Amino acid sequence: MDSIDGVRELLRGLPVLKGRAPEFDPHDVPDDPVELFVSWLRTAVDSGVVEPHAMTLSTVDTGGRPSARVLILKDVDSAGWHFAVNAGSRKGRELAARPVASLTFYWPELVRQIRVSGPVAADSRELAAADFLARPAGSRQMALTRRQSEPFDSDAELDEALARADLELRADPHLAPPDWISYAVQPAEVEFWQGDPQRRHKRVHYELVDGKWTRNRLWP
Ligand SMILES: Cc1cc2nc3c(=O)[nH]c(=O)nc-3n(C[C@H](O)[C@H](O)[C@H](O)COP(=O)(O)O)c2cc1C
Repeated sequence: MDSIDGVRELLRGLPVLKGRAPEFDPHDVPDDPVELFVSWLRTAVDSGVVEPHAMTLSTVDTGGRPSARVLILKDVDSAGWHFAVNAGSRKGRELAARPVASLTFYWPELVRQIRVSGPVAADSRELAAADFLARPAGSRQMALTRRQSEPFDSDAELDEALARADLELRADPHLAPPDWISYAVQPAEVEFWQGDPQRRHKRVHYELVDGKWTRNRLWP
């Protein structure tokens, strides 16, 4: 193994857990993790966390090979954590073949991380269509090229595909393609983690057992 000069030292010199952790009593948490998530989300928004709705979505393919990428959270409710994908993209194909996922939020300003995992279920067509129609025109055009995650080698081809998508949208401004799918991660496990510079991290782990939430603290 050839090490690259200085990288190990560069990494070791970087600070971590330097945010300001809010008050958090792991004994005083709601029974439902959705409630705690929304409370932490509101704190993140109020504290000016940058893009708190950006989350890492991890999926697996049929061979068990994992992949992850950042995506925008669209909603959270009793059905779960909602996001939308192009069916033909890598994540879209993986979710169709293996309907399970894990979400990771990291809010460094608050030294907080949240992990959610469980099966995914497609939302109704109406919900997916409403999500699509609420997207800016440029995002809708790009989605209508229906080629996300394919090999790319020509800007001219992309320009052409976008021009076609623009025509499609002009012909039908209410167009919502069936390959735009909204999913919800139905939580089976949710973990709230608040970091501590002394490494006495506070961790609360919720798990759904026989349809009821149980929770435990985890060793830091
Ligand atoms: C902050 C941020 C937000 C993103 N939001 C989205 C999104 O809402 N939808 C999307 O398809 N890709 C989004 N991306 C790009 C994805 O991370 C990813 O590159 C893309 O969806 C292709 O992933 P795939 O090849 O695994 O399907 C975002 C990336 C970042 C960094």
